[in-house]
Amino acid sequence: MSAVKGDVGGVVGRGPRELAADPSLDVGRIRADFPVLRRTVAGGKRLVYLDNAATSQKPHQVLDAMDTVYREHNANIHRGVYEMSEVTTALFEGARGRVAAFINAPHSREVIFCRNATEGINLVAYAWGRDNVKRGDRLIVSILEHHSNFVPWQQLAAEAGAELVVIDIDEGGRLRRDQFEAEVAKGARLVAITHTSNGLGTVNPVKELTAIAKAAGATVLIDAAQAVPHTVVDVQDIGCDFLVFSGHKMLAPPGSGALWGRTEILERMRPFLYGGDMISRVAVDTTTWNELPWKFEAGTSAYVDAIGLGAAVDYLTAVGMERVHAHELELVAYVLPRLLEIPGIVVYGPHTLEARVGVISFGLEGIHPHDVATIFDREGVCVRAGHHCNQPLMTRLGCVATTRASFYLYNTIEECDVLLGAVAKAQRIFA
Ligand SMILES: Cc1ncc(COP(=O)(O)O)c(C=O)c1O
Repeated sequence: MSAVKGDVGGVVGRGPRELAADPSLDVGRIRADFPVLRRTVAGGKRLVYLDNAATSQKPHQVLDAMDTVYREHNANIHRGVYEMSEVTTALFEGARGRVAAFINAPHSREVIFCRNATEGINLVAYAWGRDNVKRGDRLIVSILEHHSNFVPWQQLAAEAGAELVVIDIDEGGRLRRDQFEAEVAKGARLVAITHTSNGLGTVNPVKELTAIAKAAGATVLIDAAQAVPHTVVDVQDIGCDFLVFSGHKMLAPPGSGALWGRTEILERMRPFLYGGDMISRVAVDTTTWNELPWKFEAGTSAYVDAIGLGAAVDYLTAVGMERVHAHELELVAYVLPRLLEIPGIVVYGPHTLEARVGVISFGLEGIHPHDVATIFDREGVCVRAGHHCNQPLMTRLGCVATTRASFYLYNTIEECDVLLGAVAKAQRIFA
Protein backbone atom coordinates (compact mmCIF):
# COMPACT_ATOMS: atom_id res chain seq x y z
CA MET A 1 0.00 0.00 0.00
CA SER A 2 1.29 3.45 -0.78
CA ALA A 3 1.24 5.95 2.00
CA VAL A 4 -1.95 7.91 2.24
CA LYS A 5 -1.51 11.55 1.37
CA GLY A 6 -3.67 14.54 0.77
CA ASP A 7 -6.99 13.99 2.52
CA VAL A 8 -6.74 15.53 5.90
CA GLY A 9 -10.47 15.96 6.37
CA GLY A 10 -11.39 17.79 9.52
CA VAL A 11 -7.84 18.00 10.79
CA VAL A 12 -6.71 21.22 9.15
CA GLY A 13 -7.06 24.67 10.57
CA ARG A 14 -7.03 24.37 14.35
CA GLY A 15 -4.55 26.66 15.98
CA PRO A 16 -2.77 26.32 19.31
CA ARG A 17 -4.70 29.13 20.96
CA GLU A 18 -8.01 27.48 20.24
CA LEU A 19 -6.66 24.23 21.59
CA ALA A 20 -5.11 25.79 24.65
CA ALA A 21 -8.50 27.30 25.47
CA ASP A 22 -10.02 23.83 25.77
CA PRO A 23 -10.71 23.51 29.49
CA SER A 24 -11.32 19.76 29.35
CA LEU A 25 -7.99 18.60 30.70
CA ASP A 26 -5.66 20.39 33.10
CA VAL A 27 -2.48 19.06 31.57
CA GLY A 28 -0.25 21.17 33.82
CA ARG A 29 -1.80 19.55 36.88
CA ILE A 30 -1.57 16.13 35.36
CA ARG A 31 2.09 16.59 34.46
CA ALA A 32 2.88 17.52 38.06
CA ASP A 33 1.83 13.99 39.05
CA PHE A 34 4.53 12.37 36.89
CA PRO A 35 7.96 12.68 38.52
CA VAL A 36 9.89 11.56 35.44
CA LEU A 37 8.46 14.38 33.34
CA ARG A 38 10.49 16.85 35.42
CA ARG A 39 13.80 15.46 34.29
CA THR A 40 15.95 16.76 31.51
CA VAL A 41 17.73 14.68 28.88
CA ALA A 42 20.29 15.19 26.10
CA GLY A 43 22.44 17.58 28.13
CA GLY A 44 19.73 19.72 29.67
CA LYS A 45 16.85 19.55 27.20
CA ARG A 46 13.30 19.10 28.48
CA LEU A 47 12.12 15.53 28.17
CA VAL A 48 9.50 15.22 25.43
CA TYR A 49 8.15 11.71 25.89
CA LEU A 50 6.24 10.61 22.79
CA ASP A 51 6.66 6.86 23.00
CA ASN A 52 3.47 6.11 24.88
CA ALA A 53 2.33 3.34 22.55
CA ALA A 54 5.41 1.43 23.74
CA THR A 55 4.89 2.20 27.42
CA SER A 56 3.54 5.02 29.54
CA GLN A 57 5.02 7.00 32.41
CA LYS A 58 3.71 6.51 35.96
CA PRO A 59 2.05 9.07 38.25
CA HIS A 60 3.09 9.29 41.89
CA GLN A 61 -0.33 7.89 42.87
CA VAL A 62 0.63 4.57 41.27
CA LEU A 63 4.18 4.66 42.63
CA ASP A 64 2.86 5.48 46.10
CA ALA A 65 0.29 2.66 46.05
CA MET A 66 3.02 0.16 45.25
CA ASP A 67 5.54 1.69 47.62
CA THR A 68 3.02 1.49 50.46
CA VAL A 69 2.58 -2.24 49.94
CA TYR A 70 6.32 -2.88 50.08
CA ARG A 71 6.91 -0.54 53.02
CA GLU A 72 3.89 -1.30 55.16
CA HIS A 73 2.17 -4.61 54.57
CA ASN A 74 3.97 -6.78 52.05
CA ALA A 75 2.88 -10.42 52.38
CA ASN A 76 1.89 -13.12 49.95
CA ILE A 77 -1.77 -12.98 48.97
CA HIS A 78 -4.53 -15.55 49.52
CA ARG A 79 -2.35 -17.62 51.82
CA GLY A 80 -1.88 -15.86 55.11
CA VAL A 81 -4.46 -15.51 57.85
CA TYR A 82 -2.48 -12.71 59.43
CA GLU A 83 -3.31 -9.03 59.04
CA MET A 84 -0.67 -8.00 56.49
CA SER A 85 -1.61 -10.79 54.12
CA GLU A 86 -5.28 -10.00 54.49
CA VAL A 87 -4.70 -6.31 53.75
CA THR A 88 -2.60 -7.08 50.66
CA THR A 89 -5.10 -9.68 49.46
CA ALA A 90 -7.94 -7.19 49.85
CA LEU A 91 -6.02 -4.60 47.83
CA PHE A 92 -5.22 -7.15 45.13
CA GLU A 93 -8.82 -8.31 44.83
CA GLY A 94 -9.96 -4.68 45.06
CA ALA A 95 -7.76 -3.90 42.05
CA ARG A 96 -9.51 -6.70 40.16
CA GLY A 97 -12.85 -5.10 40.94
CA ARG A 98 -11.61 -1.71 39.70
CA VAL A 99 -10.32 -3.23 36.46
CA ALA A 100 -13.64 -5.03 35.98
CA ALA A 101 -15.57 -1.79 36.46
CA PHE A 102 -13.19 0.09 34.13
CA ILE A 103 -14.00 -2.20 31.19
CA ASN A 104 -17.60 -2.77 32.37
CA ALA A 105 -17.11 -6.50 32.93
CA PRO A 106 -20.24 -8.14 34.37
CA HIS A 107 -18.21 -9.97 37.06
CA SER A 108 -14.78 -9.40 38.55
CA ARG A 109 -14.20 -13.19 38.44
CA GLU A 110 -13.98 -12.74 34.65
CA VAL A 111 -10.87 -10.58 35.02
CA ILE A 112 -7.71 -12.66 35.04
CA PHE A 113 -4.55 -10.86 35.98
CA CYS A 114 -1.74 -11.52 33.49
CA ARG A 115 1.72 -10.10 32.98
CA ASN A 116 0.57 -8.30 29.83
CA ALA A 117 -1.63 -8.50 26.74
CA THR A 118 0.76 -11.00 25.18
CA GLU A 119 0.31 -13.43 28.03
CA GLY A 120 -3.47 -13.00 27.92
CA ILE A 121 -3.57 -13.87 24.21
CA ASN A 122 -1.27 -16.85 24.70
CA LEU A 123 -3.47 -18.03 27.55
CA VAL A 124 -6.46 -18.10 25.20
CA ALA A 125 -4.45 -19.67 22.37
CA TYR A 126 -3.42 -22.54 24.68
CA ALA A 127 -6.30 -23.03 27.06
CA TRP A 128 -9.11 -22.36 24.57
CA GLY A 129 -7.33 -22.89 21.25
CA ARG A 130 -5.93 -26.35 21.87
CA ASP A 131 -9.38 -27.76 22.59
CA ASN A 132 -11.48 -25.76 20.17
CA VAL A 133 -9.51 -25.28 16.98
CA LYS A 134 -9.49 -28.28 14.67
CA ARG A 135 -8.18 -29.17 11.25
CA GLY A 136 -9.84 -27.10 8.56
CA ASP A 137 -11.06 -24.37 10.95
CA ARG A 138 -10.49 -20.78 9.93
CA LEU A 139 -8.85 -18.22 12.25
CA ILE A 140 -9.30 -14.61 11.18
CA VAL A 141 -6.86 -11.85 12.09
CA SER A 142 -5.92 -8.62 10.32
CA ILE A 143 -2.79 -7.19 8.80
CA LEU A 144 -2.89 -4.53 11.54
CA GLU A 145 -2.14 -7.04 14.31
CA HIS A 146 0.75 -6.66 16.69
CA HIS A 147 2.90 -9.82 16.62
CA SER A 148 1.32 -10.70 19.98
CA ASN A 149 -2.04 -11.14 18.31
CA PHE A 150 -0.63 -12.70 15.16
CA VAL A 151 2.04 -15.26 16.01
CA PRO A 152 0.01 -17.24 18.62
CA TRP A 153 -2.76 -17.76 16.03
CA GLN A 154 -0.33 -18.46 13.22
CA GLN A 155 1.32 -21.14 15.35
CA LEU A 156 -1.97 -22.59 16.57
CA ALA A 157 -3.21 -22.76 12.96
CA ALA A 158 -0.04 -24.59 11.93
CA GLU A 159 -0.34 -27.09 14.81
CA ALA A 160 -4.05 -27.75 14.37
CA GLY A 161 -4.09 -27.77 10.57
CA ALA A 162 -6.33 -24.70 10.59
CA GLU A 163 -6.19 -21.79 8.16
CA LEU A 164 -5.01 -18.32 9.16
CA VAL A 165 -6.93 -15.67 7.22
CA VAL A 166 -5.49 -12.15 7.25
CA ILE A 167 -7.82 -9.24 6.50
CA ASP A 168 -6.28 -6.37 4.58
CA ILE A 169 -6.54 -2.60 5.03
CA ASP A 170 -7.56 0.06 2.55
CA GLU A 171 -5.51 3.03 1.37
CA GLY A 172 -6.52 4.98 4.46
CA GLY A 173 -5.14 2.33 6.79
CA ARG A 174 -8.62 1.09 7.71
CA LEU A 175 -9.60 -2.55 7.96
CA ARG A 176 -11.37 -3.73 4.79
CA ARG A 177 -14.87 -4.32 6.05
CA ASP A 178 -16.01 -5.89 2.75
CA GLN A 179 -13.24 -8.46 2.94
CA PHE A 180 -13.89 -9.09 6.62
CA GLU A 181 -17.56 -9.80 5.97
CA ALA A 182 -16.78 -12.03 3.01
CA GLU A 183 -14.20 -14.06 4.93
CA VAL A 184 -16.36 -14.43 8.03
CA ALA A 185 -19.22 -15.60 5.81
CA LYS A 186 -17.00 -18.46 4.61
CA GLY A 187 -16.76 -19.62 8.24
CA ALA A 188 -14.65 -18.60 11.21
CA ARG A 189 -13.82 -20.49 14.39
CA LEU A 190 -12.08 -17.46 15.85
CA VAL A 191 -11.82 -13.78 15.03
CA ALA A 192 -8.86 -12.13 16.81
CA ILE A 193 -8.73 -8.45 15.94
CA THR A 194 -7.00 -5.45 17.36
CA HIS A 195 -9.23 -2.73 18.73
CA THR A 196 -6.67 -0.05 17.92
CA SER A 197 -3.57 -0.33 15.76
CA ASN A 198 -0.26 0.36 17.48
CA GLY A 199 1.34 0.99 14.09
CA LEU A 200 -1.17 3.41 12.55
CA GLY A 201 -3.45 4.52 15.37
CA THR A 202 -6.53 3.25 13.50
CA VAL A 203 -9.51 2.33 15.68
CA ASN A 204 -11.45 -0.62 14.29
CA PRO A 205 -15.26 -0.72 14.55
CA VAL A 206 -14.95 -3.64 16.97
CA LYS A 207 -18.57 -3.66 18.03
CA GLU A 208 -19.79 -4.11 14.45
CA LEU A 209 -17.02 -6.56 13.60
CA THR A 210 -17.87 -8.59 16.69
CA ALA A 211 -21.56 -8.66 15.78
CA ILE A 212 -20.73 -9.93 12.30
CA ALA A 213 -18.36 -12.57 13.68
CA LYS A 214 -20.73 -13.73 16.43
CA ALA A 215 -23.63 -14.00 13.99
CA ALA A 216 -21.44 -16.41 12.02
CA GLY A 217 -20.72 -18.46 15.15
CA ALA A 218 -17.13 -17.31 15.73
CA THR A 219 -15.47 -16.77 19.09
CA VAL A 220 -14.09 -13.22 19.25
CA LEU A 221 -10.97 -11.94 20.96
CA ILE A 222 -10.22 -8.22 20.99
CA ASP A 223 -6.66 -7.01 21.51
CA ALA A 224 -7.28 -3.78 23.38
CA ALA A 225 -3.66 -3.06 24.36
CA GLN A 226 -3.82 0.33 22.60
CA ALA A 227 -7.45 0.99 23.41
CA VAL A 228 -8.00 0.54 27.15
CA PRO A 229 -5.29 3.15 27.93
CA HIS A 230 -6.73 5.75 25.53
CA THR A 231 -10.48 5.35 25.07
CA VAL A 232 -13.60 4.07 26.80
CA VAL A 233 -13.69 0.29 26.41
CA ASP A 234 -16.83 -1.58 27.40
CA VAL A 235 -16.70 -5.34 26.96
CA GLN A 236 -20.47 -5.73 27.23
CA ASP A 237 -21.06 -3.09 24.61
CA ILE A 238 -18.51 -4.66 22.25
CA GLY A 239 -20.04 -8.09 22.79
CA CYS A 240 -16.77 -10.01 22.40
CA ASP A 241 -15.75 -13.20 24.23
CA PHE A 242 -12.22 -12.22 25.27
CA LEU A 243 -10.40 -8.92 25.60
CA VAL A 244 -6.81 -8.28 26.66
CA PHE A 245 -4.68 -5.30 27.64
CA SER A 246 -1.40 -4.41 29.38
CA GLY A 247 -1.06 -2.26 32.49
CA HIS A 248 2.25 -0.68 31.56
CA LYS A 249 0.67 1.23 28.66
CA MET A 250 -1.91 2.80 30.99
CA LEU A 251 0.16 4.33 33.82
CA ALA A 252 0.59 1.01 35.67
CA PRO A 253 3.77 -1.03 36.09
CA PRO A 254 5.08 -3.64 33.68
CA GLY A 255 3.99 -7.06 34.90
CA SER A 256 0.37 -6.00 35.23
CA GLY A 257 -2.34 -6.65 32.68
CA ALA A 258 -5.57 -8.49 32.24
CA LEU A 259 -7.53 -10.94 30.20
CA TRP A 260 -11.28 -10.58 30.38
CA GLY A 261 -13.39 -13.53 29.26
CA ARG A 262 -16.99 -14.64 29.53
CA THR A 263 -17.63 -16.86 32.54
CA GLU A 264 -19.21 -19.66 30.53
CA ILE A 265 -16.20 -19.91 28.20
CA LEU A 266 -13.57 -19.53 30.93
CA GLU A 267 -15.26 -22.24 32.98
CA ARG A 268 -15.08 -24.69 30.10
CA MET A 269 -11.42 -23.98 29.42
CA ARG A 270 -8.57 -26.04 30.74
CA PRO A 271 -5.98 -24.18 32.87
CA PHE A 272 -3.06 -22.47 31.17
CA LEU A 273 -0.33 -22.90 33.78
CA TYR A 274 -0.32 -25.48 36.57
CA GLY A 275 0.92 -24.92 40.12
CA GLY A 276 -0.01 -23.25 43.37
CA ASP A 277 -3.14 -21.14 43.84
CA MET A 278 -4.89 -22.45 40.73
CA ILE A 279 -5.90 -25.72 42.36
CA SER A 280 -8.83 -26.69 44.51
CA ARG A 281 -7.51 -30.05 45.70
CA VAL A 282 -4.46 -32.10 44.82
CA ALA A 283 -4.14 -35.83 45.47
CA VAL A 284 -1.38 -38.11 44.28
CA ASP A 285 -3.32 -39.19 41.21
CA THR A 286 -5.61 -36.26 40.46
CA THR A 287 -6.13 -32.52 40.81
CA THR A 288 -9.19 -30.31 40.68
CA TRP A 289 -9.09 -26.66 39.68
CA ASN A 290 -9.80 -23.52 41.65
CA GLU A 291 -12.74 -21.28 40.78
CA LEU A 292 -12.49 -18.34 38.42
CA PRO A 293 -10.41 -16.27 38.18
CA TRP A 294 -7.76 -18.10 40.21
CA LYS A 295 -7.89 -21.20 38.02
CA PHE A 296 -5.86 -19.12 35.55
CA GLU A 297 -3.54 -17.44 38.06
CA ALA A 298 -0.96 -20.11 38.88
CA GLY A 299 1.83 -19.31 41.30
CA THR A 300 2.36 -16.11 43.23
CA SER A 301 0.69 -13.33 41.27
CA ALA A 302 2.44 -10.05 40.60
CA TYR A 303 0.21 -8.65 43.31
CA VAL A 304 2.02 -5.36 43.85
CA ASP A 305 1.87 -4.66 40.11
CA ALA A 306 -1.83 -5.51 40.08
CA ILE A 307 -2.38 -3.09 42.97
CA GLY A 308 -0.49 -0.50 40.89
CA LEU A 309 -2.88 -1.23 38.02
CA GLY A 310 -5.82 -0.62 40.34
CA ALA A 311 -4.32 2.78 41.27
CA ALA A 312 -3.80 3.56 37.57
CA VAL A 313 -7.43 2.74 36.87
CA ASP A 314 -8.46 5.09 39.69
CA TYR A 315 -6.29 7.83 38.19
CA LEU A 316 -7.67 7.43 34.66
CA THR A 317 -11.22 7.15 35.95
CA ALA A 318 -10.82 10.43 37.83
CA VAL A 319 -9.51 12.15 34.69
CA GLY A 320 -12.18 10.54 32.49
CA MET A 321 -11.41 8.39 29.47
CA GLU A 322 -13.46 10.56 27.10
CA ARG A 323 -11.26 13.49 28.06
CA VAL A 324 -8.07 11.48 27.67
CA HIS A 325 -9.11 10.51 24.16
CA ALA A 326 -10.28 14.03 23.29
CA HIS A 327 -6.99 15.48 24.50
CA GLU A 328 -4.96 13.11 22.36
CA LEU A 329 -7.09 14.01 19.35
CA GLU A 330 -6.42 17.69 20.01
CA LEU A 331 -2.72 16.97 19.79
CA VAL A 332 -3.19 15.01 16.57
CA ALA A 333 -5.36 17.83 15.19
CA TYR A 334 -2.50 20.22 15.83
CA VAL A 335 0.45 18.19 14.66
CA LEU A 336 -0.89 16.07 11.80
CA PRO A 337 -1.72 18.84 9.30
CA ARG A 338 1.61 20.47 10.05
CA LEU A 339 3.43 17.21 9.41
CA LEU A 340 1.51 16.70 6.19
CA GLU A 341 2.70 20.09 4.90
CA ILE A 342 6.34 19.04 5.19
CA PRO A 343 7.89 18.12 1.82
CA GLY A 344 9.33 14.62 1.75
CA ILE A 345 7.19 13.26 4.60
CA VAL A 346 4.99 10.21 4.30
CA VAL A 347 2.37 9.81 7.03
CA TYR A 348 1.07 6.26 7.23
CA GLY A 349 -2.48 5.48 8.21
CA PRO A 350 -5.48 7.75 8.69
CA HIS A 351 -5.12 11.45 7.92
CA THR A 352 -8.34 12.35 9.69
CA LEU A 353 -9.41 12.49 13.30
CA GLU A 354 -12.11 9.93 12.77
CA ALA A 355 -11.75 6.60 14.59
CA ARG A 356 -8.18 7.01 15.67
CA VAL A 357 -5.95 7.59 18.68
CA GLY A 358 -2.84 9.68 19.18
CA VAL A 359 -0.42 7.51 17.22
CA ILE A 360 1.28 9.02 14.17
CA SER A 361 3.64 6.90 12.07
CA PHE A 362 5.71 8.58 9.42
CA GLY A 363 8.77 8.37 7.20
CA LEU A 364 11.10 11.11 5.99
CA GLU A 365 12.36 10.68 2.46
CA GLY A 366 16.02 9.66 2.34
CA ILE A 367 16.39 9.27 6.14
CA HIS A 368 16.21 5.94 7.94
CA PRO A 369 13.69 6.00 10.80
CA HIS A 370 16.45 5.03 13.24
CA ASP A 371 18.46 8.10 12.18
CA VAL A 372 15.35 10.22 12.63
CA ALA A 373 14.86 8.85 16.16
CA THR A 374 18.54 9.41 16.98
CA ILE A 375 18.35 13.06 15.93
CA PHE A 376 15.11 13.44 17.87
CA ASP A 377 16.85 12.02 20.91
CA ARG A 378 19.39 14.84 20.76
CA GLU A 379 16.43 17.24 20.96
CA GLY A 380 15.06 15.42 24.00
CA VAL A 381 12.26 13.80 21.96
CA CYS A 382 11.62 10.10 22.64
CA VAL A 383 9.88 8.32 19.77
CA ARG A 384 9.94 4.75 18.53
CA ALA A 385 11.61 3.81 15.26
CA GLY A 386 11.25 0.32 13.86
CA HIS A 387 8.61 -2.17 12.83
CA HIS A 388 6.68 -1.78 16.11
CA CYS A 389 6.13 -5.57 16.24
CA ASN A 390 4.06 -5.09 13.07
CA GLN A 391 6.20 -6.76 10.45
CA PRO A 392 3.30 -8.02 8.31
CA LEU A 393 1.91 -4.45 8.35
CA MET A 394 5.29 -2.96 7.41
CA THR A 395 5.51 -5.37 4.48
CA ARG A 396 2.01 -4.31 3.46
CA LEU A 397 2.99 -0.63 3.64
CA GLY A 398 6.10 -1.32 1.59
CA CYS A 399 8.56 -0.16 4.24
CA VAL A 400 10.76 -1.85 6.83
CA ALA A 401 10.23 0.67 9.58
CA THR A 402 8.52 3.93 10.50
CA THR A 403 9.10 6.65 13.05
CA ARG A 404 6.20 6.68 15.47
CA ALA A 405 5.13 9.47 17.81
CA SER A 406 2.43 8.48 20.28
CA PHE A 407 0.68 10.80 22.71
CA TYR A 408 -0.88 10.46 26.12
CA LEU A 409 -2.78 12.59 28.58
CA TYR A 410 0.33 14.45 29.79
CA ASN A 411 1.58 15.60 26.37
CA THR A 412 1.22 19.22 25.28
CA ILE A 413 0.99 21.40 22.18
CA GLU A 414 4.42 22.80 23.09
CA GLU A 415 5.80 19.28 22.87
CA CYS A 416 4.21 18.93 19.44
CA ASP A 417 6.14 22.03 18.41
CA VAL A 418 9.37 20.47 19.68
CA LEU A 419 8.52 17.38 17.59
CA LEU A 420 7.93 19.50 14.49
CA GLY A 421 11.21 21.34 15.12
CA ALA A 422 13.01 18.01 15.42
CA VAL A 423 11.59 16.89 12.06
CA ALA A 424 12.89 20.10 10.46
CA LYS A 425 16.28 19.55 12.06
CA ALA A 426 16.52 15.98 10.81
CA GLN A 427 15.73 17.16 7.30
CA ARG A 428 18.36 19.94 7.52
CA ILE A 429 21.02 17.48 8.68
CA PHE A 430 20.27 15.04 5.86
CA ALA A 431 19.62 17.67 3.16
C1 LIG B 1 -1.89 -3.60 19.82
C2 LIG B 1 -0.93 -4.30 20.74
N1 LIG B 1 -1.16 -5.55 21.10
C3 LIG B 1 -0.36 -6.24 21.93
C4 LIG B 1 0.77 -5.63 22.42
C5 LIG B 1 1.64 -6.41 23.34
O1 LIG B 1 1.74 -5.76 24.55
P1 LIG B 1 2.70 -6.34 25.68
O2 LIG B 1 4.07 -6.32 25.09
O3 LIG B 1 2.53 -5.40 26.81
O4 LIG B 1 2.22 -7.70 25.96
C6 LIG B 1 1.09 -4.33 22.05
C7 LIG B 1 2.32 -3.69 22.52
O5 LIG B 1 2.79 -2.73 21.96
C8 LIG B 1 0.21 -3.64 21.20
O6 LIG B 1 0.44 -2.39 20.83
